[in-house]
Amino acid sequence: MTEAWREAGTVAGGEAPEGAGPAGAPARGTAAAGGAAAVGSPLVARPLALPRCGLTLRNRLVMVPVATAKADAAGRVTETLCEHYTTRARGRHLGLVECEHHFVSPEGRANPHQASISRDSDVEGLRREAAALHDCDTPVLVQLSHAGSAASSALTGMRPIAPSERLAPGAKVGHELPRVMDADDIGRVVEAFARAARRARLAGFDGVEVHAAHGYLLDQFFSPLTNLREDAYGGDVFGRLRITLEVVDAVRSELDGRMALSVRLGGCDYRPGGNEIEDGVEAARLLEGAGCDLVSVSGGMNYYTRIDTLEPGYFSDLSTPVRAAVGVPVILAGGVRRIGDAERLLADGACDLVGVGRAILNNERWADVQWRRLERAHQDAGRRR
Ligand SMILES: Cc1cc2nc3c(=O)[nH]c(=O)nc-3n(C[C@H](O)[C@H](O)[C@H](O)COP(=O)(O)O)c2cc1C
Repeated sequence: MTEAWREAGTVAGGEAPEGAGPAGAPARGTAAAGGAAAVGSPLVARPLALPRCGLTLRNRLVMVPVATAKADAAGRVTETLCEHYTTRARGRHLGLVECEHHFVSPEGRANPHQASISRDSDVEGLRREAAALHDCDTPVLVQLSHAGSAASSALTGMRPIAPSERLAPGAKVGHELPRVMDADDIGRVVEAFARAARRARLAGFDGVEVHAAHGYLLDQFFSPLTNLREDAYGGDVFGRLRITLEVVDAVRSELDGRMALSVRLGGCDYRPGGNEIEDGVEAARLLEGAGCDLVSVSGGMNYYTRIDTLEPGYFSDLSTPVRAAVGVPVILAGGVRRIGDAERLLADGACDLVGVGRAILNNERWADVQWRRLERAHQDAGRRR
């Protein structure tokens, strides 16, 4: 079966004239056919082609990963978890769904009832998860994650591991100190991500997202607040990102050419001594060079929120320079409540895709309601012209 978002010949690649936004913001990879929007139509309604993998998203709205804890106690996908996604995607108003973080190895498990992608026996349940979204005609990525020092021996039965014997700044007081990873540990973690990617392919996902944000293991390596190493995996941005680049390389080799690879990058820590915006920009460039199809910009050791602003698109100070520095599409999430917020962020050139988390979590009809609102506004504007 050829899914709608995989129609041959719809990929324009690069810039398309009809994709230029009202504020002159280029809409990258705008599809030339297969539902491309006309001049003057809302930016959020415009399809986006990912040239490297041939995936075409019907619009610019992404349901970003939000942990639901709806797996069973063994980490297996449940019907409730699948329904969570179908109820939100069945209106066919989401361009892409990114399923919540799935742990790639038992020692990297963050929560009870988190879904597992760490065993071959998980593939059967993962297949149902991917199919739930495909039944809604919606492409789907699965997020691959290792919690590092944010895991706990009470849950995993293993001492947590991390780049250095350091907890993330937001860790609970009294949380056990992690064991410092040696070269074998690093190799095992890279391999675990690669095996998880293989399972994602076997399960029928359209791609994967590597979680390197929000104080989890790969972010613990990237942040100078938690990485004090003096070997090749520490030091400058390249050293601190080295394990993530190795993960990207290993994951890529397990995906088929039609699958997308996204990295969720904790590009800035917004804390003294932590990563600054320039570090995030440099990291995004390196990730693009390593073969990512998408960069999803979020927070690092400040997690996914800002304490100083709740403005829709509150990481746009980071996503805007990242987008200027890379050629692949950039996802921006944080504080988007209405579709008008998404339209403005796209018009401002802050991103190519707008991520929505809590608004969709809290209202399963969010995308449908917002889309109707957009259509009405567009019709009203047409009548006034
Ligand atoms: C309950 C909850 C669970 C989350 N789980 C994940 C996750 O599994 N992976 C991830 O990358 N981000 C996760 N996030 C962060 C969201 O993807 C998103 O970046 C954040 O909620 C900000 O966007 P919003 O304002 O639209 O909600 C989570 C956020 C919340 C509130």
